[in-house]
Parts: sequence; structure tokens; C-alpha cells
Amino acid sequence: MSDTAKLLLPDGQSLDLQVLTGTEKEKAIDISELRSKTGYITLDPGFVNTGSCESGITYLDGEKGVLQFRGYPIEELAENSTFIEVAYLLINGELPKKEQLNNFSDRINGHAMIHEDMRHFFEGFSQNAHPMVILSAMVSSLSAYYAEASGRASLEELEINSARLIAKISTIAAFSYKKSAGQPFVYPRDDLSYCENFLNMMFSVPAEPYEMNPEIVQALELLLILHADHEQNCSASTVRVVGSSRANVYASVASGILALWGPLHGGANQQVVQMLQNILEDGGGISKYIEMAKNQNSEFRLMGFGHRVYKNFDPRARILKNTCDSLLKKLGINDPLLEIAIELEATALNDDYFIERKLYPTLDFYTGIIYRTIGIPLNMFTVMFALGRVPGWIAQWKEMHEDPKQKIARPRQLFTGQTKRGFVPAVERN
Ligand code: ACO
Repeated sequence: MSDTAKLLLPDGQSLDLQVLTGTEKEKAIDISELRSKTGYITLDPGFVNTGSCESGITYLDGEKGVLQFRGYPIEELAENSTFIEVAYLLINGELPKKEQLNNFSDRINGHAMIHEDMRHFFEGFSQNAHPMVILSAMVSSLSAYYAEASGRASLEELEINSARLIAKISTIAAFSYKKSAGQPFVYPRDDLSYCENFLNMMFSVPAEPYEMNPEIVQALELLLILHADHEQNCSASTVRVVGSSRANVYASVASGILALWGPLHGGANQQVVQMLQNILEDGGGISKYIEMAKNQNSEFRLMGFGHRVYKNFDPRARILKNTCDSLLKKLGINDPLLEIAIELEATALNDDYFIERKLYPTLDFYTGIIYRTIGIPLNMFTVMFALGRVPGWIAQWKEMHEDPKQKIARPRQLFTGQTKRGFVPAVERN
């Protein structure tokens, strides 16, 4: 038997609301009939307390620092899995058997080419265009080539569109880098794994093949796994909202890419490294920046710190801090930005301002340093995030369409503007 909550309203109305319990014992009050039965709506800026859906993809406990994809702890996936296997898990709900994994992987490899005409699109962008704009525009353009993609896709259609998206986005990302670097595009290769193929498209040039370093391939696998989904964040919610109008999966994911770009969301990884570089150029002292972050009159925030849901360590940041340290050691690189990041983290974690507000480093705090080590340029950092997040966006889009309770997303508002008044012709206005 389910619990109920009783709502008593100032006008004397009362309403019994069903209390739902999730599989991890989280509680939610179902208010779906509130307005139709009472005329009231709820008001929740930034959706801080609002669940937009029931979901079985990702579980996140921000108080305890827990993250699980389809029940599997992120630490176990990071240790044992590959990005393509995690993509399968997120989209299909279960880890694949060997044959299923091979088929899924082959299918993705087989879709990595983009239509030759799309190459010309890159010429239309200015050399300085941010790769996130190019990425979103190109992903949106895929709808023009696969016109059959619909907002009511059958499972079979969605399987093909998912493979196309996961595969082609890495080709598009690498081409957009080549465009900005003024180098010829490098076509995808079927014989390479997903991460190897991406690195080859990014870094090989006609004059010199790219020498694959297994440490770098493994670091990239890990980064993409850690980014693969994060429940109902800003970009995932955008994908769901856009998809709820029955826009196709390419259009929905293209919108998610733009939502991700913002500096308070996925754009933070670029901002973190910019911040660390500024500190370095400023002499390396961190106290000025800690004070600026604490000053309520300053717009400055410690980038890569604080999260809407995590009020404890982001488990992804823990994994990445160790990887960052070991990767740099293995490659014999001494990056002064890592030293600054470690000192910033330690200082902030012992400072009352950050302790009281439960501000911890998030995944973005260390990703940038790893990207730099791999050779990824600063303005491509958020593109890398998008590459990793595609399976999550597809899984969210798919789950939404399979949910019989799903409706077009259409929030309400509390109107606080001008009440009704008569039109006054321009000549008579004071
Ligand atoms: N530096 C300094 N102070 C901070 C920071 C920070 N990074 N983050 C939050 N605060 C402070 C706020 O000023 C506020 O203080 P107050 O209560 O005295 O006014 C308090 O902590 C709560 O912050 P909110 O902005 O209300 O929290 P919210 O949940 O809305 O924001 C957000 C979360 C946007 C991530 C915020 O922590 C932030 O701006 N962080 C820096 C940007 C960043 O790293 N974003 C990446 C997030 S992870 C991701 O999307 C992949």
C-alpha cells in the first residue's frame, strides 16, 4: 500500500497526494493532479525539488557521493569496462554478452563516416568558431541526411540512429578540430577501437602517422565512461524537453549539446583550466582566487567546484584525481597546473566557506588536466564531454519515449506582470 501526504490549502481545500518510493528508497510526492483538482501550481525555480520523470538509468546520491549506471557502481565500470560497453548498458539496460558487444561495436564502427557533402559544411564556419557550435550544427544536420528519423522511432530505427550518432559525433568532433588547426581531415578506420579511432582522426597527419599510446587510449576510455550519463541534469533535461515534442533524436541531442556548452554545466571543464592558467600566470598564489570566490560581491567562482546534487565528493572526481596523477607520472609529464589544482582543492576543502556550503570538486576539476596531457586543445574540452554524454542522452530520449505517462514538456508559471489594460494609440501615450 502506498503512503499519502495531505496538502491543506489556504482556501480550505485539501488534497491527498500519493507518496512514491523509488528502488533506492527515495521519496517523491506525486502532484500530477494538483492543478486539475485544486487550481494551484507549484513554483520551483531551477527545478531544485522537482522530479520530471521516473527513470531507471542512472542513480545518484549526492549526499553520499554515489553514482550508478543501471545499478553498476561507477567505480566498477571505470575499472573494468569500455566506453562502448557502457554505452550499450545505458541504452539497453543490461551489460552485453560478448556477441552483442561485438555486434554493437561493429555497427558503430560501420557508421563512422559522415556523408561526403557534410565535409563542405565545415568550410562555412569561421576558423575561430567554437567547436561546440560546429558540433551542434553538424549533429542537427544529420536529420537532413537521415530524414526517416522520427520522434516516434521504432526500436530498430532507434538502434541505427543511436549507432550513427555515437559513431559520427566522434568524426564530426575530430573534423572540427582539424578545421581549426588548418589540417586535412582524417577519415575513420574500421579496424580501430572507438577511442583509438578518435585519437587517430584527431592527431594523425599525412606526413606522420599517429603513434597509439595505450596509456592515452585507456585514459580516454575512462574519461568517456565517467561522462556517459548523469541523470536529469541541464542537458539531459533539454534532450527530454525537446524530444517530448517528438523532435527526432538528432535534433534533441543537438539541443543537449548547446545546453552542455554553458560554463555552469559542461563548459566548466574549459573554465577550470583557464582559471588554473590565470593563477599560474599570476605567480601561482591561490589565496587571492580563494578570497575572490568567497566574496559575494565578486562574480568569480571557483570553477569545477560545487554541484546542484553532490553535497559530498563527486565519485568521478576521486577517480580522475588518481588517474591524473598516475597518467602524468607514467608519461613523465610535470604539469604545474596539477600542482595548483591539488593545492586549490586542499585549501578549499579546509575553508569554512566551502565546508558550510558543501562545495566539493566535481568531475570537471581534473578532466582538463588529463585532456591537456592527451593533447586535446582547450576549446575542445567541452566537445569531449559531449562525446562521452551521447549514450546517456540517447538512453534518456529512448526512456522518455517508452514511458506511457510521457507528455509534451510544458511547465506552468506564476504570472507577476501587468494585469489587463486598454490599448493607447502612440500619439496619445505620455
Ligand atoms: N565558487 C564559489 N562559491 C560557490 C561556488 C563556487 N564554485 N558554487 C556555489 N557557490 C556558492 C554560491 O555563491 C552560494 O552561496 P550563498 O548561499 O552564500 O549565496 C552557494 O554556494 C550555493 O550555490 P548555488 O549557485 O545556489 O548552487 P546551485 O546548486 O544553484 O549551483 C553550480 C550549482 C552552478 C554548479 C555552482 O556550484 C557553480 O557555479 N559552480 C561553478 C561552475 C561549475 O563548476 N559547474 C560545473 C558543474 S558540474 C557539471 O555540470 C558537469
